Amino acid sequence: MLRYWLMLLLLVQSFCLQAETLTINEKSFKCLSQMTPVRGFFVDSLTGNLADTLAVAKSATGGVYPVGSVVQLVPTEVMVKREQGFSPVTKDWEFFELDVDKQGSKIRKRGFADVNNRFKKNCFACHAAAKPEWDMICEDSHGCEKLPIPEHVIVALQKTDPRCPTNDATAMQRFSAWLVQKFSPN
Ligand code: HEC
Repeated sequence: MLRYWLMLLLLVQSFCLQAETLTINEKSFKCLSQMTPVRGFFVDSLTGNLADTLAVAKSATGGVYPVGSVVQLVPTEVMVKREQGFSPVTKDWEFFELDVDKQGSKIRKRGFADVNNRFKKNCFACHAAAKPEWDMICEDSHGCEKLPIPEHVIVALQKTDPRCPTNDATAMQRFSAWLVQKFSPN
């Protein structure tokens, strides 16, 4: 009888451990307009815990994002908060560089301190410069090196996310996004 109880305990334990590990694949990512906007960026939660993610994102004093938080500025670059202790160097953030089109997202690159964007610039190198209370989120005032693209172009890229079924981008925004794509490495 004891043996059965032990087996049951082990089963329950392994189920719980499994539940703690996030499964992240190309289906984990949404079109930006289906995420929640916070100031200039967008958030989501892979663990159904959007309220806690939003609480940190909206906090005036910063904080540590909960496991499963997804953060995006442009359609092709994503940060996901992994389980505690997964990657202490990057404060458990996993960086993703995606390819996006009407069909959805494809993961071009994922990882921790080693991920570069398509312009061969290292995600971690920039984001690590954010002051500690901001948990590697740069925005425009947290201490990171500035992005080489102006804000109206970032908005154009957000408005023309090809994964969204529809968009309300102006002709000018579509043109800006097209130009960026034309001059981005494939
Ligand atoms: C040149 C430095 C630089 C590089 C390289 C870089 N970022 Fe950023 N990133 C920034 C800055 C600065 C912002 C904030 C821009 C703003 O809000 O004006 C930002 C914004 C973001 C945001 C929105 C949240 C935030 O931090 O404000 C995410 C998510 C993000 N970047 C992910 C990535 C990923 C993933 C990569 C690599 C594939 C990457 N970034 C590469 C500097 C960089």
